[in-house]
Amino acid sequence: MTDARLSQTEPRYMSGFGNDFETEALPDALPQGMNSPQKVNYGLYGEQLSGTAFTAPGHQNERTWCYRIRPSVRHQGRFSRIDLPHWKSAPHIIDDVTSLGQYRWDPLPHGDTDLTWLTGMRTMTTAGDVNTQTGMASHIYLVTQSMTDAYFYSADSELLVVPQDGRLRFATELGIIDVAPQEIAIIPRGLVYRVEVLEGPARGFVCENYGQKFVLPGRGPIGANCMANKRDFKTPVAAFEDRDAPSTLTVKWCGQFHACRIDHSPLDVVAWHGNYAPVKYDLCTYCPVGAILFDHPDPSIYTVLTAPSGVEGTANIDFVLFRDRWNVAEDTFRPPWYHKNVMSELMGNIHGQYDAKPKGFVPGGMSLHNCMLPHGPDRAAFEAASNADLKPQKLENTMSFMFETRFPQHLTEFAAKEAPLQDDYVDCWDGLDKKFDGTPGVK
Ligand SMILES: [Fe+2]
Repeated sequence: MTDARLSQTEPRYMSGFGNDFETEALPDALPQGMNSPQKVNYGLYGEQLSGTAFTAPGHQNERTWCYRIRPSVRHQGRFSRIDLPHWKSAPHIIDDVTSLGQYRWDPLPHGDTDLTWLTGMRTMTTAGDVNTQTGMASHIYLVTQSMTDAYFYSADSELLVVPQDGRLRFATELGIIDVAPQEIAIIPRGLVYRVEVLEGPARGFVCENYGQKFVLPGRGPIGANCMANKRDFKTPVAAFEDRDAPSTLTVKWCGQFHACRIDHSPLDVVAWHGNYAPVKYDLCTYCPVGAILFDHPDPSIYTVLTAPSGVEGTANIDFVLFRDRWNVAEDTFRPPWYHKNVMSELMGNIHGQYDAKPKGFVPGGMSLHNCMLPHGPDRAAFEAASNADLKPQKLENTMSFMFETRFPQHLTEFAAKEAPLQDDYVDCWDGLDKKFDGTPGVK
């Protein structure tokens, strides 16, 4: 037995999104020409991890073949329910919490208590129903402590992780992913991993997607390039540990958490091939496309990833990025216009200042503009944009994102009562007074 923990391994990545990858940490560990030979080299066990139903259409079908030291059934024991009181799942509607409204929060402060990826997850909103695999939850994580001989997987969801502060390592069955602010990671449903703190304290956002997996949006007439390009997504090469030590495995299943004891690390996949794998992406490689003469398109132009809902063009979740870019539109009100949206919009600030809200929406902060709730630029942004000299202007020092879902989002009790909610947020539109007086002309 070797005890080379993945913690001591430097991550290496393969380029592409949804590729059929193949990778092995030991030479000739990967069977060639077939998936399930009578005996696998090194005495490994062959095992398939399915990301879609067996019969999903070919262009959506995802699965990975793993060749591992023990089969996954040996990485589990008799489960007991455990309580992670701050990690909630939909449906989760609290009687005395009003979700109808526009809300904004200051960053959750780092506290004095040591928190892991599991104990540090704070659910802010839930939408849909985890049991029917529709909708999502939004979380903020506060993590100070690495998981040690502790492992986790979610049978409920894939996790889209958006770091805002600190650096994390995801040591997964299929390899290692390190992430820092302005990067994201996607951890697939069912994949076992532990999270280590490389630089703490760490804070960030998580979109827990109960539904179909995130894919790249169709570009339509934009063509084959720009927005998020496949080559900029990075999937880890195979890496494993052969470690015998008392350990725990925690599973999220139908919104509940269960734990069991095992006597070794489950991160024992020596080789794998397939297209169901974790991935990271550097948001700074996102190539924005926008208006180059007048007006501006819908914010969907900034979609990085989309998770379909089954209704064509209506996402279970869109992940949308507002990064630094040029504003050049002539005779145009350049910030986002006022609007009322059938989708519900949860935003987070990763870095810098957001153009529609120059104050109050700060890095680490979050806002929610729920289904059919009007919103738009605050008074200061409206006045500035209405009177600006419209020469080309570069929006710099800015990176915010949106988790947009077709489902209404419900606040958790934590979001409504414990998190630093800005009670005066709706006042930001005060002073947007009537200019109309019945006479023509610019006011
Ligand atoms: Fe909006």
